[in-house]
Amino acid sequence: MSRAFTDHRGCADGPYAGHGRRGAGGAHGKAILLGEHAVVYGTPALVIPVPQLTVTANATRCPCSGEGGDRISFATTGPQTASVTPLMSDSMQHLVAEFRKRTDVVEPMCVDVLIDCLIPQARGLGSSAACARAAVLALADVFDRRLDAGTVFELVQASETVVHGRASGIDALATGATSPLFFRSGTARALPIAMAGDGPGEPGGFSGLFVVADSGVDGSTKEAVELLRRTFERDAQAKAAFVRRVSNLTYAALHDLEQGRLSDFGARLTENHGLLRDVGISTDRIDALVEAALAAGGFGAKISGGGLGGCMVALAGDLRQAEAVVRGLEQAGAVQTWVVPVGRFAGHAD
Ligand code: PMV
Repeated sequence: MSRAFTDHRGCADGPYAGHGRRGAGGAHGKAILLGEHAVVYGTPALVIPVPQLTVTANATRCPCSGEGGDRISFATTGPQTASVTPLMSDSMQHLVAEFRKRTDVVEPMCVDVLIDCLIPQARGLGSSAACARAAVLALADVFDRRLDAGTVFELVQASETVVHGRASGIDALATGATSPLFFRSGTARALPIAMAGDGPGEPGGFSGLFVVADSGVDGSTKEAVELLRRTFERDAQAKAAFVRRVSNLTYAALHDLEQGRLSDFGARLTENHGLLRDVGISTDRIDALVEAALAAGGFGAKISGGGLGGCMVALAGDLRQAEAVVRGLEQAGAVQTWVVPVGRFAGHAD
């Protein structure tokens, strides 16, 4: 069957306008707290959902006219795109091919998918995975297919591998999660966090807030992963040391969370930043933001995500401290910040 990707003049605007069947899907952004890059080599990572950075996909299906081949269009809207922008990426084509394979859709697929994305792109916030996740869920809805969590993950991961090269799967899972995750080798579980008032351990529990800041400069996960792959190919000892140190830090941070040790957790963040900086993943601008967050009273700070630009994350003890950290980050040049309280949040409709 032929597979045609059209520009964005599909059934929503054509003769079938208003008559198409509709489906919707949602996802959200994420920020990695510890373990990025090492996670590609099998170590664990800790990641939080960023629920305020939503992605919504709306699919409109219409009767296929003419020769009977597929007619699929993807388009995006959002703060980074001036209007509706056609999206005909390899990753989306791959996603549709995989969707068809796994869901046994045999009839021609004629559908427009409009993706409304609040996640800044190329900033390590999971925009590509969240778009893919929202699109998969919208396609499943409009073609009346029930997908289990594993199938959704595999479809998102198929598209992520096209975008990033070697993808660990952390974004594919975190962009659909409703709580912070402990991720390892393609699987994840909710992080056990001792919240304030949870009983023994530290009296206050873990009541911190994460501040995520955008440096305003595009990062490139693909380039960064490739950079480390080449470095580590030349220097096996450097690879072993990096992977071991990040892994130790991540497990130590996990225990801090379980025990409600806020300031120890913050120190692990900053230490992880040092390791990422030393292997060449940070930038001067991100280093300056990390310094600013610490100077403003943050318990710890580090680059977050693929790097070579993008975002950083800091830990604040309470709302007042988070406000001070936000002010410090803005003065140091952050173009946007988001404050994410530790804990669960209600899921989007998916
Ligand atoms: O999508 P990003 O930029 O947050 O990168 C994901 C984290 C990496 O460890 C750098 C890559 C991966 O697939 O795990």
